[in-house]
Amino acid sequence: MLTGPKFKLLTDLISQSSKEELIWINGYLSALLGQQPQPATAVAAPVSVAAATPKKITITYGTETGNSKKLATEFAAKAKKNGIQTKLVGLDQYRLTDLPKEEYFITVISTQGEGEPPIAAQKFYDHIHNNGFKIPQLKFGVLALGDTAYPQFCKAGEDVDSQLQKLGGNRIVPLQKCDLDYEELAHSWFSDLLKSFDNAGAPAIVAAPAVADQKKPAGKKTYTGTILSSINLNANQSDKKTYHIEIAAEGVEYLPGDSIAIIPENPAAIVEEILSLSQTDPAKNISWKNETFTIKDLLTQKLNITYLLEKSVKQYASIVGQDIPAARVGLLELLQKYPLKDATQFEAIVLGLTPTAPRIYNIASSPAAHEGEVHITVLQDVFTVNGEKQYGLGTSFLESKKPGDEISFFIQPNKRFRLPAADKDVIMIGPGTGIAPFRSFTAERDATGAAGRNWLFFGEGSFTDDFLYQTEWQNWFDTDVLTKVSLAFHKDSADKPFVHHRILQHGAELFEWMQNGAYLYLCGEKDPMSKEVEAALLTVIEREGKLSAEDAAKYFEQLKTEGRYAKDVY
Ligand SMILES: Cc1cc2nc3c(=O)[nH]c(=O)nc-3n(C[C@H](O)[C@H](O)[C@H](O)COP(=O)(O)OP(=O)(O)OC[C@H]3O[C@@H](n4cnc5c(N)ncnc54)[C@H](O)[C@@H]3O)c2cc1C
Ligand SMILES: Cc1cc2nc3c(=O)[nH]c(=O)nc-3n(C[C@H](O)[C@H](O)[C@H](O)COP(=O)(O)O)c2cc1C
Repeated sequence: MLTGPKFKLLTDLISQSSKEELIWINGYLSALLGQQPQPATAVAAPVSVAAATPKKITITYGTETGNSKKLATEFAAKAKKNGIQTKLVGLDQYRLTDLPKEEYFITVISTQGEGEPPIAAQKFYDHIHNNGFKIPQLKFGVLALGDTAYPQFCKAGEDVDSQLQKLGGNRIVPLQKCDLDYEELAHSWFSDLLKSFDNAGAPAIVAAPAVADQKKPAGKKTYTGTILSSINLNANQSDKKTYHIEIAAEGVEYLPGDSIAIIPENPAAIVEEILSLSQTDPAKNISWKNETFTIKDLLTQKLNITYLLEKSVKQYASIVGQDIPAARVGLLELLQKYPLKDATQFEAIVLGLTPTAPRIYNIASSPAAHEGEVHITVLQDVFTVNGEKQYGLGTSFLESKKPGDEISFFIQPNKRFRLPAADKDVIMIGPGTGIAPFRSFTAERDATGAAGRNWLFFGEGSFTDDFLYQTEWQNWFDTDVLTKVSLAFHKDSADKPFVHHRILQHGAELFEWMQNGAYLYLCGEKDPMSKEVEAALLTVIEREGKLSAEDAAKYFEQLKTEGRYAKDVY
């Protein structure tokens, strides 16, 4: 027991130390006691001896827009503060051969596309799904980020969690799925994870103070822009409408390759009809996600009402107590077919609806050439339901915007889709609206005088009706900004050419550019376009490089590893 000056020394030291220093002192003393024979009078160390050798954990993240990385970084800081040796690594950089050697493996992973892992996590995802190895030593925890607006909520995280268990791993905390307001839930999940170390007899964990920005609301900077112009780039006789929309937004910050996201409003007429069937006061306030809205505003601005997810339809069925097929339909149709008893039922239904999913559009302008502006290229979305022509929500919303109207948006950065150094060659493959980021790339390279060569592959219906931004490409070609243009208009000739045919046709020169260090980019329709283009690129590599199919695949993989092949497809 300490008394007198020694006790004062200790209390002085404690009062002058930060929490982190106290944790360190705690571990240091434990180590000391663990190494030396303990005096008979020594009090038991406050933490187990093992605490002196902090447990090592690996925290990984699979991210597209940085949210998972941000959380993983905060977790790593928190773990370190708790005296745990922590390795933080992105799943794209993670050595797959390390997995059987890991003891504690924590991953934060988002879901992208339609239930897919982020591109940066694809290799890891494929590795654990396609190779039948066993990892019984692994103790793991998965935090899944997603957005309840998407039908496949947190699918990638769910898959990783269940697959790690199938491979023999031991789950130390249950999978946590988080919506866009993930901060609080995510940090409480991580605290539980740290506590589970305690319970397992691992180092005693002292809960670290909340990280500084934990309470900061999740979300991105929202800009309010003004529509400058909106023009249809297709000829009147074309069967398509592709709008070039220019938005002025002072101080807007983005890089070529980024996209914008908008949350479209629901059509006023549909909202009115819904409200008239709801037996509810449209002006009634309702609390939703910690904010207060009138029911009318909530239905107009925030909720998916036009094409409900199956889970919302099921919920409607359970509230009204009827048997309703779990197929995606609009809320109005449900109200018409399965009327409600009263306003209380309607409020319950409203609160069970999912938020409107953001619509993403690749930015077609360049910060260097179009300062303070964002341009997008929007193809009108047309489909038929029961033989009746219908239009997509987001594209109709954008189409309705006139010069002078305001529009809110946020920037969706894409760090994997960036221009290379100015002297490098660039090959851009972007049929249809896939052209958008390449207008941005080319305008940027023009404005900054980049010396590298630029080759564009573009395809659409017909040259006269559908050559998007034709005069701009012509000007860039005439002024040598654009070195080469390869066009495929499938309505113009009997052989119906698409961009992948042009890739095969120009294979020798394309391979020469690749060998010369060119960077390849692909944007536009995922299916079938991107698959056909990738198959054609593999054929070119195999044929022109005189390689086996296996070696061609390795060559292509190498391009991806070097960041010389990037795609943004949808
Ligand atoms: C990374 C990324 C980049 C993108 N870049 C661009 C771009 O640069 N330019 C561009 O034009 N698009 C782009 N998109 C696509 C864009 O985000 C939208 O998905 C597209 O504009 C359609 O949105 P919408 O709201 O009009 O259609 P939605 O209303 O979402 O409808 C989409 C589809 O859902 C079905 N559907 C909808 N409602 C019903 C219903 N009531 N009944 C039956 N079926 C229905 C139809 O098949 C319809 O075609 C991009 C997407 C991603 C993910
Ligand atoms: C184009 C796009 C597609 C998405 N698809 C899904 C999806 O299918 N399921 C889901 O739960 N979330 C989906 N999300 C939402 C993201 O998972 C969510 O925004 C997440 O916070 C992103 O985290 P990250 O920045 O780490 O990638 C999608 C987001 C975008 C932009």
